[in-house]
Amino acid sequence: MKTVRIAPAPKAFTIDCDRIASDKSISHRCAIFALLSDRPSIIENFLRAEDTLASLSIAEQLGATTEWSEAGKLTITPPARLREPDDVLDCGNAGTGMRLYCGFLAGVEGSFVLTGDRYLRARPMKRVTGPLQSVGAKLDGREEGNLAPLHIRGGKLKAFRYASPVDSAQVKSAMILAALRGDGRSYYRESFLSRDHSERMLHGMGARVGRDTEGWITIDPMEGPLEPLKLRVPADPSSAFFFAVAAAILPGSRIRFEGISLNPTRIEAFRVLESMGAAIDYRIRQDLYEPIGEITVRYNGRLGAVEVAERIPWLIDELPALAVAMATAEGVSRVRNAAELRVKESDRIASTLRALEACGIETEEYDDGYAVHGGTLHSAVIDSHGDHRIAMSFAVAGLLCGMEIVDTDCVATSFPNFFDILSQMTEVHTL
Ligand code: S3P
Repeated sequence: MKTVRIAPAPKAFTIDCDRIASDKSISHRCAIFALLSDRPSIIENFLRAEDTLASLSIAEQLGATTEWSEAGKLTITPPARLREPDDVLDCGNAGTGMRLYCGFLAGVEGSFVLTGDRYLRARPMKRVTGPLQSVGAKLDGREEGNLAPLHIRGGKLKAFRYASPVDSAQVKSAMILAALRGDGRSYYRESFLSRDHSERMLHGMGARVGRDTEGWITIDPMEGPLEPLKLRVPADPSSAFFFAVAAAILPGSRIRFEGISLNPTRIEAFRVLESMGAAIDYRIRQDLYEPIGEITVRYNGRLGAVEVAERIPWLIDELPALAVAMATAEGVSRVRNAAELRVKESDRIASTLRALEACGIETEEYDDGYAVHGGTLHSAVIDSHGDHRIAMSFAVAGLLCGMEIVDTDCVATSFPNFFDILSQMTEVHTL
């Protein structure tokens, strides 16, 4: 278990950054959706981190072959027929990988076991296994199908009309994947739009995924293999956001992110940081399944407090880093309607607040959120609880006051070069 010590930044930074980790959500989908075609998909800038490489090796266990060019381009060649694997399928720490594969495999003939690390095996899966069982999928696991390892006996699936009680892109994607193998048109609805990469990418591959006038997503079964994917994965806004907070709290700093996704369902945290007073510019440069371009974040004086209670699915992953910004702001900030934080890689309400308190920040805890009393961050020893976003959020706080982060191995699940970029801003020592 690695511990990293971060020294306070000696001065402001000005950085043009094209090395932010590639988008995790899109990379998982590339690995899985490539299996829906009968021709090779070509992916540039696929995220080479533990979570997404786990999804890619599962694609290989199902019969795909993968090849990396010297320039790092990934070719995923799907098998003529998916293979029944002779071993368990290990999703590692990745909730996205596990939930999407549940939906994907539910309609594939064969027997499959999905498992993951100790954190993933404790996360709720009923949100996908429940609706999948209701459309005829044969899935089981501990606590009546709620906890992995999960066993799937893939087979015929029924068309469905399902209004989801959670606004979750993982649940939505699992159900869309199942609907592609249903026996008629299916309908899916969420009360608030969660990230929409699956709809965009599958539509781009020729799947008949649309939306009716009442807001239901409509999915027609595949009539044959889909078109392969051909794309360059943009930089991940959720990973960039750690350094956006760094620029917003370290006087005089500026950072520009290039080739980053500007999908509106992914950049809400930047909008909130802007409303707290940071100077932020967005520039769309291209549209490849979704808008991609540049974001520049500049320090613009001390931040002000903010209330965050809406559009939560659009910034759920960024809330720990945003809490660090809130800790430096003038006044009391509040987050509500964010109970989903409790079932992420850790209970992120508890892990964020305990870490803030260790840094001398006053907090209040609610079932569905928290209050952060802005003040002065103090150096502390922070336990990541095996959660990559807690480790990275408090490493960034270290730019102001110094910090020691215990258990940083988890950073490799999503952002393997995070500490390399941080070391452009300050001294970083692995103990
Ligand atoms: C993801 C969806 C989000 C997010 C997760 C990635 C995805 O979870 O927190 O990191 O790629 O679909 P929800 O399922 O809660 O939307």
